[in-house]
Amino acid sequence: MSRRWVVSLLLCVPLFARHPVRERKAMVVAQEQQATDIGVAVMKAGGNAVDAAVAVAFALAVTHPTAGNLGGGGFLLLRTDRGESTFFDFRERAPGKATRDMYIGPDGKVTRDSLVGWRASGVPGTVHGLWTAHQKHGSKPWASLVAPSIKLAKGFPMSYSLSESLESAAPRLLSKFPETNRIYLRDGKFYEKDDVFVQADLARTLTRIAKHGPKDFYEGETARLFAAEMEKNGGLITLEDLKNYQTAVRKPLTGSYKGHEIITAPPPSSGGIGILQIMGMLEGTGYHNTGAGSAAAIHVVAEAMRRFNADRSEHMADPDFFKVPVSGLLSKAYIEQLRNSIDREKASKSDAVRPGKPALAESAETTHFSIIDPKGNAVALTYTLNGSYGSGVTVPGLGFLLNNEMDDFSAKPGEANMFGVVQGEANIIQPRKRPLSSMTPTIILKDGKLKMVVGAPGGSRIITGVAQVILNVLDFGMGVQSAIDAPRFHHQWQPDKLMVEREMSPDTIAALRAKGHEVDFISNVALVEAIVVEDGWLAGGTDRRAHGKAAGF
Ligand code: DON
Repeated sequence: MSRRWVVSLLLCVPLFARHPVRERKAMVVAQEQQATDIGVAVMKAGGNAVDAAVAVAFALAVTHPTAGNLGGGGFLLLRTDRGESTFFDFRERAPGKATRDMYIGPDGKVTRDSLVGWRASGVPGTVHGLWTAHQKHGSKPWASLVAPSIKLAKGFPMSYSLSESLESAAPRLLSKFPETNRIYLRDGKFYEKDDVFVQADLARTLTRIAKHGPKDFYEGETARLFAAEMEKNGGLITLEDLKNYQTAVRKPLTGSYKGHEIITAPPPSSGGIGILQIMGMLEGTGYHNTGAGSAAAIHVVAEAMRRFNADRSEHMADPDFFKVPVSGLLSKAYIEQLRNSIDREKASKSDAVRPGKPALAESAETTHFSIIDPKGNAVALTYTLNGSYGSGVTVPGLGFLLNNEMDDFSAKPGEANMFGVVQGEANIIQPRKRPLSSMTPTIILKDGKLKMVVGAPGGSRIITGVAQVILNVLDFGMGVQSAIDAPRFHHQWQPDKLMVEREMSPDTIAALRAKGHEVDFISNVALVEAIVVEDGWLAGGTDRRAHGKAAGF
């Protein structure tokens, strides 16, 4: 009997019916099927996890334009088979001309310019980040990894989910920009399932990137066209901004949970601090003894989420611009103080939970995929345009959408952004700064060996969603697919609401209300893609809330 079954029997946890995809050597889980297949093919041909990640990321830029991108940014967390971990931060940066108040209108109110149109974008990092990771760790020629996406850009049959997604984003966003309308909506005639979707400009851009790497995107023909269109349309990104873009190669955050080593995202993500704080508050409480999905367990986890998010609002930002007190926020004593402030019976009021006072350190629509290669190298990559289809702008002649990542800054401290997240002074707009992120690519080890590779899109719900899937595996003994399928919840401090997915049982909700939570429904809490290593198998789980695929060999 496998360990999972034993744990499940002991804890009386129902094992949900769906099984993960199981393979022995290599696995890709991504949010779009053709992209998964391309990653698997790269590894079958001898490529490693970084090669596969580059190929999958370029493929998603073609087949999953809601979030896959050339015009956005993200994070790639790598752990090699030799046990070294690196965090490639290719998050967008504010343009040099950006100013603190650039999104505050004459009436003192925040405008929508951080969300829609030419002024919403930070300087894209994706091409630079993929190149940097490939230079250090890739084994197959760069051009061979871009080639499959060039082929896709020349035409692939539209899936039902993409045609539906494009049509629903049309009135709100996509039809507002002529070039976007022309490419993605066929001038309002809409693609239907199985129509061949051709992106000729994108194929040409990708061909230049295949040939010249980031030189084309940041200094060459693509850069010149990009900067010229920006200027023509009132955007801020200049040729100089593009030339100056740099991927930051950072040390991941590490921590432990019940004998597992957690390797996760450092600032400018708030995600790693979130995972480590939330799990730190839970450790030793025995919160899971009442069972998966029980109101008592949900209550304690939600209270931990509330406390982390209060800290997020004040203490986290781009570490190149703001001293994030990471060690203070993660110190045992500070986390114990947070843990002790949780009442097991009664919900706190967010207004009474203020950001804490950690000791200052002495020194200083998104998508995710997870990959493990036959040698045991692991990649967790989350990248994004921020909102679904980003700013809605496609650069004429280049064929790719631009991000609206500037909305992740605090346009006006104390006011909520697109995700309803309230942020403070630390995360104000400054030239060349990276906005605070919630993206949380994470790798977990047990006894020094790979146990789990996980991450998700979902804005502020990424951290809480990823945390729950990890807890479902480590605390409730669920298999990866069951851990992902189980209904999730979310608390982000402000607004003071416990958001739950609709599948949560009514009596659980009633019990949570009785504890004082204001409960509201939400369509999903992140879209998690994860691989768990168990009993000699790689088990790939993909989120039922999305349209992805797990595959390997
Ligand atoms: O970096 C962040 O936290 C956000 N820009 C992520 C946006 C996102 O996940 C949207 N997808 N659903």
